[in-house]
Amino acid sequence: MRSPYTGDSLHVVSEDGHEALVSQAGERFPVRNGIPVFLDPEKLTGSNRKYNRLYESIGGFYDDIQRVACAFRGINPDQYLLSYLRFLEINPGDSVLETSVGTGLNYKYLPRGARLFGLDLSAEMLTNCQANLRRWEMDADLFLGNAEDLPFANDSFDVVFHVGGINFFNDRAKAIREMIRVAKPGSRILIADETEKHVKSTYERIPITSGYFKNRQEAVTAPIDLVPPEMQETHLEMLRDGRFYALTFRKPSSAMPNLTNSHTLG
Ligand SMILES: C[S@@+](CC[C@H](N)C(=O)[O-])C[C@H]1O[C@@H](n2cnc3c(N)ncnc32)[C@H](O)[C@@H]1O
Repeated sequence: MRSPYTGDSLHVVSEDGHEALVSQAGERFPVRNGIPVFLDPEKLTGSNRKYNRLYESIGGFYDDIQRVACAFRGINPDQYLLSYLRFLEINPGDSVLETSVGTGLNYKYLPRGARLFGLDLSAEMLTNCQANLRRWEMDADLFLGNAEDLPFANDSFDVVFHVGGINFFNDRAKAIREMIRVAKPGSRILIADETEKHVKSTYERIPITSGYFKNRQEAVTAPIDLVPPEMQETHLEMLRDGRFYALTFRKPSSAMPNLTNSHTLG
């Protein structure tokens, strides 16, 4: 692990029974309920702040919302998730990172035997993710942080994917660069989210979410234009009657000096 702000590597210290991650430069990130904390929600700005509030308020019943939404629209949840998870290339023993893991709903569908890591902006979503993991008898290392500033060293994960949050990040390009940075060379990256069609016909209409989605400055678009040109096999697929997109691409096997950001290796 490394500081998302300076890139310095971090080590665990224990003080008065409380664990924290510290860097040589003196940065200190607390570990709360087993989750390293890399952000202060009060310091979030723009869209990240707005949607952090949404997910903090609905985190406790997010899974119920998903269940009801699927039932209401006659969608089979297994097919729904597998429609994009089928793009992942996971082998036994792989380290797999989901940025914006939420309550971990995708984890249930991943092959057992992989080592799972998840990061999210919302503490409430992660608390519910921990409860889900206990119920499913699964393990994952969870992190509270911003997907635009990942606390991981370059080339760390065999598989990196994201589902459902990037449309409304402050800086989608930065989040994509970060996914690429922490993915191992040669790995395929997946980014999936809803399209404008879905946001307009569903989120703008549901009372609990409408206030967050109405009067937007820009329509939602799949961020294919933000995928660096040096990525390989870039592929965009529309799913579920054009309501969802899955964008995949492969990080080249050879070194990409211009994509590793200014931080040093952690
Ligand atoms: C619709 S949920 C999707 C959760 C999960 N990926 C799934 O498919 O069930 C979107 C998630 O994105 C998270 N999120 C929003 N902005 C984020 C950011 N800048 N960094 C990390 N997570 C973020 C929210 O907290 C929320 O848990």
